[in-house]
Amino acid sequence: MGMMRIVGLSGSPRHGNTEILVREALTAAAEAPVDVEAVYVSLAGRKIEPCVDCQVCATQARPCIKQDDWATTIDEVLNPIPDGLIIGSPVYFFGETALLRALFERCTSLLKGIWVEDFPTPPPDLSRTAAAAIAVGYHRHGGVEHTIGSLLHWLMVMGCACTGVDYIGGSAWQRVDGLDTVRSDPIGMRNARATGRRVAYLANLLHAGTAHVAEGVDDWVAYRNLEEPHAANPE
Ligand SMILES: Cc1cc2nc3c(=O)[nH]c(=O)nc-3n(C[C@H](O)[C@H](O)[C@H](O)COP(=O)(O)O)c2cc1C
Repeated sequence: MGMMRIVGLSGSPRHGNTEILVREALTAAAEAPVDVEAVYVSLAGRKIEPCVDCQVCATQARPCIKQDDWATTIDEVLNPIPDGLIIGSPVYFFGETALLRALFERCTSLLKGIWVEDFPTPPPDLSRTAAAAIAVGYHRHGGVEHTIGSLLHWLMVMGCACTGVDYIGGSAWQRVDGLDTVRSDPIGMRNARATGRRVAYLANLLHAGTAHVAEGVDDWVAYRNLEEPHAANPE
């Protein structure tokens, strides 16, 4: 069994609560009784613009050409393809940060091979990447679960094998006055650790199972083959 690469990505523009939680999850993942390389990536200080639908990625078949920190950031996350991926975000108005959303949107340039015929590069294969989400907000009713759901939706669109834990992922609260850190929320910290463990566990399953995938299954599951008629009509 080789080393498992587990990436934790914080979508906060700060080195704050999300960082504490994602690092906590990575530490827990690294305690798994298998070799884990834990990689932390923060969006703090990075400049990432939203997608403007310029169509260059579709028509010229290339990753996003906008000149900012998207390319280096996504390279740190996806190259090489991680065995586990944990994404954390602060809740901003009931959803993830605009910065993280911008990173998500720009990844459309990586997925064009799904939709554009004869596209030269296939999308990244994240089918064996175990993924989960973490969010932190001021309130228990301030949008933490909604934000986790939004992060999970992106992970699903990217083709990851998503998992929840203790409901749908790592929910945490910061004190509403903003004065204390999430460390004073023991349940939130525990949820982050549980998320890290669950991702390491699922990553281990996928990693080990890869050796036993039947020949031809990769082709069988490919998007492009779906247009072909079934050999036999079940009716
Ligand atoms: C622009 C903005 C919007 C926010 N919106 C919400 C919200 O809708 N719900 C909530 O519970 N907390 C909200 N918060 C609070 C943050 O989610 C909270 O302070 C979080 O712990 C910050 O995470 P960080 O330390 O990783 O940056 C908001 C904070 C900011 C700056």
